[in-house]
Amino acid sequence: MKSEYKAKLINIRSLGETCSILTFLCPEIAGEGKPGQFVNLSCPHFLKRPFGIMCTDKDAGTFCIGVRKVGKGTEEILASKEGDEFTCLGPLGNGFDFTDVKKLLLVGGGTGIFPIYFAADYAQKHGIPTVIANGYRCKCDAFLYDEFSKETSDFYVTTDAGDLGIKGNVMNCLEDLDSSLIEGATVMVVGPGIMMKKVSEWAKAKGLSCFVSLEQRMACGIGACLVCVCKIKAEEEGKEFVHKRCCKDGPVFRAEEVIW
Ligand SMILES: Cc1cc2nc3c(=O)[nH]c(=O)nc-3n(C[C@H](O)[C@H](O)[C@H](O)COP(=O)(O)OP(=O)(O)OC[C@H]3O[C@@H](n4cnc5c(N)ncnc54)[C@H](O)[C@@H]3O)c2cc1C
Ligand code: FES
Repeated sequence: MKSEYKAKLINIRSLGETCSILTFLCPEIAGEGKPGQFVNLSCPHFLKRPFGIMCTDKDAGTFCIGVRKVGKGTEEILASKEGDEFTCLGPLGNGFDFTDVKKLLLVGGGTGIFPIYFAADYAQKHGIPTVIANGYRCKCDAFLYDEFSKETSDFYVTTDAGDLGIKGNVMNCLEDLDSSLIEGATVMVVGPGIMMKKVSEWAKAKGLSCFVSLEQRMACGIGACLVCVCKIKAEEEGKEFVHKRCCKDGPVFRAEEVIW
């Protein structure tokens, strides 16, 4: 049974007009949160909104999320002030499984780069050799560039605008990666659906196991309302697919099981 905790907003770091990193004091989530998990954060006038955990600091009792303004809920959250109190359900979801991971390729895009950062930091702290490929729209959107650079020397960036790193999208980077860098790597991807689909097709062709974190609209966040269902292949059950709850059965799924 997941619990709801008080979370006090203690720091806001603006990343530009539409995006900020929010740090909350909440020892329970700081202590339990794993890469790939998320929290369902209260919103003054709307239902709770889900955000991937970006980092935790167990000693300080804090966790961070990166929030991009896309609608009224995120607008309200981003208008909050340091000292404001939230309620927060979490940590939710299954998260990434690092058990057999000897080598890692992380691919991030959009707000997916925030949870990818948590995975990168975990890998670095556990000595897992890691390649990171992040896709951004432009240089001005290249959030956490310096932080990612510190996690690995194999950090690659693509921008649609071509004003930073490789011009194009992450596929332009992956297709040119030296095979020795990725041989035997587990691939973890968080980003827009089309990006995750393309990366998972690429990973399959290379024989690499690939995990994606699906981003469905959510309400309860704990498996009760079925708002967030997605189609997952179920050949072993004699069916083409079954519906799984992204919030409780995911959000991380084996890429090859997902019906896009
Ligand atoms: C597991 C998970 C992790 C997430 N992590 C992050 C994160 O780290 N940082 C971040 O900024 N956002 C993240 N999101 C997305 C975030 O939850 C939504 O942007 C937010 O709930 C939108 O609320 P809103 O009221 O501002 O927008 P709304 O008014 O509800 O919607 C505005 C627009 O955004 C679209 N939208 C809303 N929610 C989603 C969603 N879940 N998936 C796809 N499109 C959506 C709507 O269709 C609409 O077009 C995550 C979502 C999930 C499910
Ligand atoms: S959000 Fe309610 S079941 Fe997933």
